[in-house]
Amino acid sequence: MAGGTVLSRVLVLADLPGEGIRRLERSCEVVTVPEGLSTEEEIAEALPGFHGLLTLLTQPVGETALAGGDVLRIVSNCAVGVDNIDLDAARRRGVIVTNTPAVLTDDTADLTWALILSLLRGVVSGDAFVRRGEFTGWRPKLLLGRSLGGITLGVVGAGRIGRAVMSRARAFGVRTLYTSRTRLDPGRESELGVDWRPTLETLLAAADVISLHVPLTDDTRHLVDARALAAMRPGAFLVNTSRGQLVDEAALTRELASGRLGGAGLDVFEREPEIHPGLADLENVVLLPHIGSATHETRGRMADCCCEDLETVLLRDERPARSLTV
Ligand code: NAP
Ligand code: GLV
Repeated sequence: MAGGTVLSRVLVLADLPGEGIRRLERSCEVVTVPEGLSTEEEIAEALPGFHGLLTLLTQPVGETALAGGDVLRIVSNCAVGVDNIDLDAARRRGVIVTNTPAVLTDDTADLTWALILSLLRGVVSGDAFVRRGEFTGWRPKLLLGRSLGGITLGVVGAGRIGRAVMSRARAFGVRTLYTSRTRLDPGRESELGVDWRPTLETLLAAADVISLHVPLTDDTRHLVDARALAAMRPGAFLVNTSRGQLVDEAALTRELASGRLGGAGLDVFEREPEIHPGLADLENVVLLPHIGSATHETRGRMADCCCEDLETVLLRDERPARSLTV
């Protein structure tokens, strides 16, 4: 109690960087579980008596978890993807759900390009080659890659990150096509220097590098299945910095092992943190541990956004602009 007012209680399921969390601790009673909770049952059990919940993208929040929220008003997810949260279940309970869009767009687009460049120019394989002591001198045919100016990039999803990837493509002089449910307006297309393709199939057939930037939903799960992989050009590359479940990882592993595809750059995996058997043994893949937004600056901003939204609801009784539900 402070001056007769009941302090709002917030359950934070992570050890977060940033100033926001310190500020939140001054205005609310914050209970932090630094190692997080990984099942809905664990979250349900911990939730009674908390008005706010701060989650990570690895923590599932559906009916079962929300059932523990006897006084819960807001779930603030420290991610842009909200595939770990059942938004309908939250709506039914009048619980506000927020996420952290926009602040991680540039870093994730940059990491997408780090993967594209690594694949096309052998950055990771070259590093391993040198470390194995195999670099014995300059050779005209050593580790030949592909010129950026000679490839066509195919972007799937023209949201914030997809557009940021496309704007970087222009700087690299890469011809870029994209497909998206909603077509960009002609002014935006010409500003980005990109051409639209009406379907995923037509994009797959026309691009040398496919980069995925759609959220994980019931419609997009296994968007890139065995059929889609077969529709990619021989020698093409797949880059995924969105969500692992967009891709059938078993089918991708088969296509890569057979040598039909040129390679894959993956920041996300279908059953994270598990990697499909055989995938990590392949030379033509670059694998990263879901670090699209992992910079000091952005992870701090993401945590700050979450704390701001918790304060907006719990201290000011207002609806945050980032609310995805009520
Ligand atoms: P966004 O701005 O919401 O863009 C998503 C785009 O996907 C929108 O253009 C949307 O099109 C399109 N889309 C949605 N459902 C679709 C469907 N069924 N078929 C085709 N297109 C569809 O999101 P963002 O900020 O770019 O982030 C995209 C995703 O990246 C996130 O959801 C998250 O999973 C992932 N991510 C990963 C990392 C990482 O660390 N690797 C970091 C940040 C984000 P409409 O306009 O038609 O709805
Ligand atoms: C990261 O993957 C995010 O969705 O923020």
